[in-house]
Amino acid sequence: MSKYHTAAPVITIVGPSGSGKGTLSQLLAQNLNYHLLDSGALYRLVALSVSGKGIDPRAQDKVAAVAATLDVQFDASGDATCVRLEGQDVTTAIRSEEISRMASVVAAHPLVREALLQRQRDFRRAPGLVADGRDMGTVVFPDAQVKIFLTASAEARAQRRYKQLEQRGERVDMAQLVADIQARDQRDRERAVSPLKPAEDAIILDSTEMSIGQVLAAMLSHVTGSERDSAATNRSK
Ligand code: DC
Repeated sequence: MSKYHTAAPVITIVGPSGSGKGTLSQLLAQNLNYHLLDSGALYRLVALSVSGKGIDPRAQDKVAAVAATLDVQFDASGDATCVRLEGQDVTTAIRSEEISRMASVVAAHPLVREALLQRQRDFRRAPGLVADGRDMGTVVFPDAQVKIFLTASAEARAQRRYKQLEQRGERVDMAQLVADIQARDQRDRERAVSPLKPAEDAIILDSTEMSIGQVLAAMLSHVTGSERDSAATNRSK
């Protein structure tokens, strides 16, 4: 954490779905005035593009070719980031259940991950970057200044999901929700390509008993601590 860096600082946020990492990455980036990389959106965009071209998401070579030439733009000038594919606003389209399923298929191809690597690294610009996604601290930015693994118990995550669904007028069985989350956690941890696990030097934050504000404050204090370490190291050089 206290290495000497000349490149723009990077903070990586990794965590299972329902841990709040999307919301907190956004809040952290806003607070620090940093850029934001939502790497999951890139996999979703590949899925959407492949689907539009009628390509089988399991055809690794064809999907990788699409990933390598993807024409995307992230416009962060408004309140929420607007995502464009070939000029079209696809912010909502990439969040559908079908695209979520396809994204997890295309994300399992090593050639697709390789094709997106440099594109993700290009997000690293001054004054800094908050990078959200499972391989951010291990593969894409192994030299990140602060690596955070955000987690919460399966029950707490199920509770949050339940509330979201309830607001949308959907009724689901709580026990089933917990069982689904536990099954997904196991699949995510055990998958061969970029499994969901904390980097060796990650700080683990368990948000089960914390509010969003408390988690944000904890993250900011780690970032400030790392900046202090870094300044001290530079002075002693
Ligand atoms: O975080 P998300 O649900 O938007 O991610 C979409 C899919 O992409 C999901 O299956 C996880 C995968 N993903 C990945 O493999 N590596 C990343 N860095 C980010 C997301």
